[in-house]
Amino acid sequence: MPTIIATWPFGRLAAETGLARIARGDAALDAALAGAQAVEDDTTSRTSVGFGSLPDRIGRLTLDACVMDGRTLSCGAVAGLEHVRHPAAVARRVMEKTPHVFLVGEGAKWFALQEGFPLEYPYTVAAMREWEEKNPARRPPVPKKDGPAQMADIDEHNHDTVTVLAHDQKGNLGGVCTTSGLAYKLPGRVGDSPIIGAGLYVDDQAGAAGATGVGEEIIRIGGSLFVVEQMRAGKTPQEACELACRRVNAAAARRGVHPAQVAFLALDPRGNHGAACTQRANFVYAVGRDGRVEMVRAREVPPTA
Ligand code: GLY
Repeated sequence: MPTIIATWPFGRLAAETGLARIARGDAALDAALAGAQAVEDDTTSRTSVGFGSLPDRIGRLTLDACVMDGRTLSCGAVAGLEHVRHPAAVARRVMEKTPHVFLVGEGAKWFALQEGFPLEYPYTVAAMREWEEKNPARRPPVPKKDGPAQMADIDEHNHDTVTVLAHDQKGNLGGVCTTSGLAYKLPGRVGDSPIIGAGLYVDDQAGAAGATGVGEEIIRIGGSLFVVEQMRAGKTPQEACELACRRVNAAAARRGVHPAQVAFLALDPRGNHGAACTQRANFVYAVGRDGRVEMVRAREVPPTA
């Protein structure tokens, strides 16, 4: 059944926008991109996707995004993109107009300008006020002697990504992942979101998966590709997402740290969906199908599971 799923409460806007596109016969990737772009454009409801998001530690807003078409395995990505409003649309142009998959920083901006995207000012008064008050630059995390620095808790207010996965009327899959990354990140830091196989992976022959949460942990296990490969091996989307969370937990245990807040969501080639999160991620996602959108709470996978 044609279906679209999207991360976090702001995923409702993405699912509503994308579902209307699927209903009129658009391709999965077009629907997912329209949904993701609606969230990029909405500066009122979140601080971690698109313009109006919380900047990095030195006050610069840089955006990361990727797209993938499950029919052809075509994909494109940008990271560290400044002053361009729609990073997911730029990622799609990388996919369609270049022989490459991934452009970063000044090169990504130069490419966007060549493609006709306007340069814009990305900062809102609200985001800059919050950055002034909460930016931890005056108290940077000091790595503990016996282990790596830990990330702060995340939720939809200080972090995170909109990942949109769609299954269209022809049965094809498409996905988009777009974010400003971790609030107050170190300049130059890139998380999982623009990395094909980490923040997103889509293959019509196996399924689509996306991630949200602390990107370092998702990259460490190759999260979204892992979920898709589990579905290829016969797991349901729900089982595959839970296995990915177990792997995040196990990776944390090997490093002697508490598992970070991470969530995965997935769609199989028939439009069945599932999602899971590590402890305290409090992850909800929007599911659009049959003309309506509902919010679903993901199953939590505790560290011992
Ligand atoms: N999941 C988004 C990031 O870590 O940047």
